[in-house]
Amino acid sequence: MIVSWDPSLLVGNAEIDGQHQELFRRVDQLLHALQMGSVTAEVERVMAFVGDYVHLHFRQEETLMQRTGYPDRQAHAAEHLELIRSLAGLREELGRTGPTPEFAAALAAALVDWLKEHIATTDTALGTWLSSHPPGGAARRG
Ligand SMILES: [Fe+2]
Repeated sequence: MIVSWDPSLLVGNAEIDGQHQELFRRVDQLLHALQMGSVTAEVERVMAFVGDYVHLHFRQEETLMQRTGYPDRQAHAAEHLELIRSLAGLREELGRTGPTPEFAAALAAALVDWLKEHIATTDTALGTWLSSHPPGGAARRG
């Protein structure tokens, strides 16, 4: 395992914490693909696998923020947009240069460092909010 989720990243919301674990599993697969020297098409495939989950996860967090009237939701969503944009830039770079060592380093920085920082600060603040502002209770889900 190149990178893995660990309990220091817990934000205290089971749904978000479970998704962060899946996200790290997918990012780890991507870093493996790069380390193995996979061809561009394979790296593109695993990047799409990561990107799909990033979108799904951000949507879920943004829904929770909206449903509970989270006061910092705009700033939080703006950080999400920042990662979406940097992933788009990296996809472009991959298409241009292929999976070079520079690309692998840029991707690890953009994705792993960003995620750890975002989870430790922005998502942790959201987790604290959600523990005192539950999103409507189980009966109103769906
Ligand atoms: Fe977030």
